[in-house]
Amino acid sequence: MIRKAVIPAAGLGTRLLPATKVIPKEMVPIVDKPTIQYIVEEAVASGIEEIIIVTSRSKRAIEDHFDASVELEDVLERKGSLAQLDQIRSISRMAHFHYVRQARPLGLGHAVLCARRLVGDEPFAVLLGDDVFVGKTPCLQQLIQVHEETGRSVVAVQEVEETEVSRYGVIRPLPIRERLWDVESLVEKPQVAEAPSNLAVAGRYVLTPDVFDILECVGPGRGGEIQLTDALSLLCQRSGLVALEFEGKRYDVGDKRGYVRATLEFALQDEVVRSDIFAFLERYYAREGTA
Ligand code: G1P
Repeated sequence: MIRKAVIPAAGLGTRLLPATKVIPKEMVPIVDKPTIQYIVEEAVASGIEEIIIVTSRSKRAIEDHFDASVELEDVLERKGSLAQLDQIRSISRMAHFHYVRQARPLGLGHAVLCARRLVGDEPFAVLLGDDVFVGKTPCLQQLIQVHEETGRSVVAVQEVEETEVSRYGVIRPLPIRERLWDVESLVEKPQVAEAPSNLAVAGRYVLTPDVFDILECVGPGRGGEIQLTDALSLLCQRSGLVALEFEGKRYDVGDKRGYVRATLEFALQDEVVRSDIFAFLERYYAREGTA
């Protein structure tokens, strides 16, 4: 059973400046909810009970968001706004939250290693905050099912255009069955010519705890950072790694285009604003055309 999830949230979010100058990128809202709340909700919907968030200086707002807000709850109670009160209370009751600091920006692999003591000796999930998924079955739940079946570490992958491979960790795959591969090795952000496939790692992982020993030893990789991808490439030779092509859609909300697309997707799923937004877009296209 996978009970614990690590959410690395120490990055600076330079792709969304100036929004992220003061606000942690994880707190930038999509419609009316901070991005990180969607990530936590996916984890909880997949059966996770303990959420470990790896933070850094200037990320206080994340802890405050998942804490009870006594003053706000008092005001809502006095006003009789019970639906809102329920909504606000449920945020801090979704799971048990734990925080650990990453003092220096040494990379994603290092951020995961910071959670070692809190995770202990059990398999755990990692969810990256820039990747928001939409679909019938939560992406993490799909990975957990494969982990339960195989007992091995699992990464989510998706096919990307050849020109996009240099933005991702890319796997060298050996087919197991439809949508499932044994991973022989991985490369972090390869050039097109070096890429072993066009199957890119999306930001969801289920990892066995032996990955921590590897992370302790792995040196700096791409960009001079300690890369999770490099540790996983070594894990392939030890306890093994499988890759699942998940079902559903993924949005890179750390990027301006992905962020706007995700905002539209969630706005169109929101019963209150859906018809209004459709009508607005229709009028907009009629007036401005598609150019
Ligand atoms: C990270 C990982 C990369 C993965 C990507 C998914 O990169 O290092 O392997 O493919 O997330 O979003 P980042 O986007 O943080 O540079």
